[in-house]
Amino acid sequence: MPAHTSAPPHQFHRAIPPAATVPRHIAIVMDGNGRWAQRRHLPRVAGHARGLASVRRAAELCLTHGVSCLTLFAFSSENWRRPPDEVDFLMKLFHGALDREVDEMVRHDIRLRVIGNRARFSPRMQAAIAEAEARTAHGSALNLSIAADYGGRWDILQAVNRLRHADPAPDRDWHEEDLLPQLCLGDLPEPDLFIRTGGEQRISNFLLWQLAYAEFHFTDCLWPEFDAHAFASALTAFRQRERRFGRTSAQLTAAR
Ligand code: IPE
Ligand code: IPE
Ligand code: MG
Repeated sequence: MPAHTSAPPHQFHRAIPPAATVPRHIAIVMDGNGRWAQRRHLPRVAGHARGLASVRRAAELCLTHGVSCLTLFAFSSENWRRPPDEVDFLMKLFHGALDREVDEMVRHDIRLRVIGNRARFSPRMQAAIAEAEARTAHGSALNLSIAADYGGRWDILQAVNRLRHADPAPDRDWHEEDLLPQLCLGDLPEPDLFIRTGGEQRISNFLLWQLAYAEFHFTDCLWPEFDAHAFASALTAFRQRERRFGRTSAQLTAAR
């Protein structure tokens, strides 16, 4: 093999996922709640309250379509910059939803996890999160992850720091396979499909590492209006993509 095509000594790639018509993992930036409310001359927070119904609906749609992982961006590490009243409302909404929805999640065989820097949440909220995760720990129909006080940069840094604390002076370099289990969602397949509602076309510090090979779907639909039709459109768009993972189109055709 010519030197320029040989693999570097520690090359590690997650296995190419099997070609699938339905994504195994969908990650959504639930954006547009504030604009939904403002268009109706309501306070922004009314949009957040309404957005909760779309969370429930998205989880149900994943169960119906056989999507096994759903990760929702609920509150970014940058959202603390919002007006204190709005932050306070969002915290209460999240806490209330944790308390109210857990029975339903258990009934639907959903496993809940919350990813993000919990240290900034109140002790009561931290306890509610731990309890909800424990009660749903055996769910196997859907892995529902809620990203709250989450940032993709924070995630990568916390993974590096965990490695550093586990082995402060390794006598070798660290590689992807060392970092992966320390990252949030490292035990799940990476997102196949990224959806952002609300019309913006940016990641806003969501899953920076994990989205390396996701298909991106942006829709103008505001999150409170994200329904079965909008979900189906995203799945249709996904089916039309050719996922090459670095290979050529001809290689994919030959492998079929
Ligand atoms: C997304 O909706 C929800 C959160 C960030 C918590 P927004 O509140 O960002 O809604 P817009 O983008 O202002 O319409
Ligand atoms: C991203 O939405 C975070 C969530 C949906 C939770 P934002 O509305 O905060 O993103 P920016 O500020 O427009 O990039
Ligand atoms: Mg927004």
